[in-house]
Amino acid sequence: MVETYHRIIHRDSRDLSFIESGSVDLIVTSPPYPMIEMWDETFAELNPAIKHAIAEEDGYKAFELMHLELDKVWSELCRVLRSGGIVCINIGDATRSLGKRFRLYPNGARILSKLVPLKFDVLPKILWRKSTNSPTKFMGSGMLPAGAYVTLEHEYILILRKGEKRPFLSDTEKRIRHESSYFWEERNKWFSDMWEWDVGSAYQKMTQENLRDRSGAFPFELPYRLINMYSVKWDCVLDPFLGTGTTSLAALSSCRNSIGIEIDEGFSSIITELLCSCLEQANSFISERLAQHTRFIEQYELKKGKPKYINKTYGFPVITNQELKLGFHSIRSIELDDSHDFNNTNKIRAVYYDDPSVICNPQYTQKDLF
Ligand SMILES: C[S@@+](CC[C@H](N)C(=O)[O-])C[C@H]1O[C@@H](n2cnc3c(N)ncnc32)[C@H](O)[C@@H]1O
Repeated sequence: MVETYHRIIHRDSRDLSFIESGSVDLIVTSPPYPMIEMWDETFAELNPAIKHAIAEEDGYKAFELMHLELDKVWSELCRVLRSGGIVCINIGDATRSLGKRFRLYPNGARILSKLVPLKFDVLPKILWRKSTNSPTKFMGSGMLPAGAYVTLEHEYILILRKGEKRPFLSDTEKRIRHESSYFWEERNKWFSDMWEWDVGSAYQKMTQENLRDRSGAFPFELPYRLINMYSVKWDCVLDPFLGTGTTSLAALSSCRNSIGIEIDEGFSSIITELLCSCLEQANSFISERLAQHTRFIEQYELKKGKPKYINKTYGFPVITNQELKLGFHSIRSIELDDSHDFNNTNKIRAVYYDDPSVICNPQYTQKDLF
C-alpha cells in the first residue's frame, strides 16, 4: 500500500533528541526572523535578556542573542539530517530603527556563518522577490539626499548540503528517483535563482489568508517546489518551525513523509484540520500540474515539433528521457492515526492510489488531457 505519515509535534526544536541521528532526508523551514518586531516576544521567551537588549536599544546585541537561540536548532538539524541531505531555509534580512539608529540586520549572512562551520556546503541560493508597488514603502528622508534607504523586497531561500552528494545506488533507489522526477519545463522555472509569485495564486489559498499574515507563513508552492527539487517519494521531510503546517501539507501532497515541530500549541488543531481536509485540493494540484504540462507540450509542438519521448505513466510526450517514469500519486484518504510515537504528537496517515496514472479530478481526466 502506498502511504505516508505526518507527525505534528508540539515542542521546542532547540532540543530534537527524540529524532534519530541521520534519519531526516530534507529540511525545509522558515524560522522566526530576528529583529522583525512580530517575533520579539517569541525570542524573549527563549531568552529574557533579548527583551532587555531591545529596551536598551542595543540592536546588535539583541540580534546576536536571537541568533544564538536559532544556532541551537541549526546544530540539532545537522545531527538529524542524513549525509547528502539538503537544508532549505527561508529567511529575510531585517531593517529596523532602535532609538535614532536605522540599520539592516543581515539574518541570511548570520545563519550561513553558523552553518558553514557545521560542515554544510553552501549551494546557490534563491531570491524570493516580494514586490510592493506602494509609494509609501520607501524609508528615510524622502527626496532629500543622503538619508533615504533602499526597500527590502526580497527574502532568501538558503540551500545547503550536508557533506557529499546523496548516492542512489540500489535498483529500488534508482527507480524511486526516476519516478520522483519533475518536468523539464518545471526544472527551467524552479531552478532559477529568482522566484516570484502572483498574489492570491490558487495554491496559496490552501492556508487561510488571515492566518498566513499572523503567522509569517510561506506560500504552499515554496515548500512544494523545494520538496520536489530535493527529495524523492517516501523521504522524510522535517520542518522545525512548522507554524501553520505548510511544509507538512506540501510533503503530504508530494507523497513524502514529514515531521513538523511547532512551539506554539495554538497551531496544533489548525494544522491537523488543514492536513486532514486537504485531499481534494492536493489532488487538484496534481491534475493542474499535468494539465500545465499538456499546455506546455501543445505550445512546444507548435514551435519545435513532436518531442522525442513518451512518458510511460500517462502516455504524453516529455522532453527528456529522465521524465519517462515520472508519476504523481493521487490521494485516496487522509485520517488521524492514533498510534503516537512521541509525546504531544498528532500523527496523520495519508493513503494514495498505488497506480500513479489514476488522476482524481473529473476536470482533468486522461482523455481530456491527452
Ligand atoms: C516564520 S514562522 C513559520 C511559518 C511556517 N513556515 C508556515 O508556513 O506557517 C516560525 C514559527 O516558528 C515557531 N517557533 C519559534 N521558536 C520555536 C522553537 N524554539 N521551537 C519550535 N517552534 C518555534 C513560531 O511559533 C512560528 O510559528
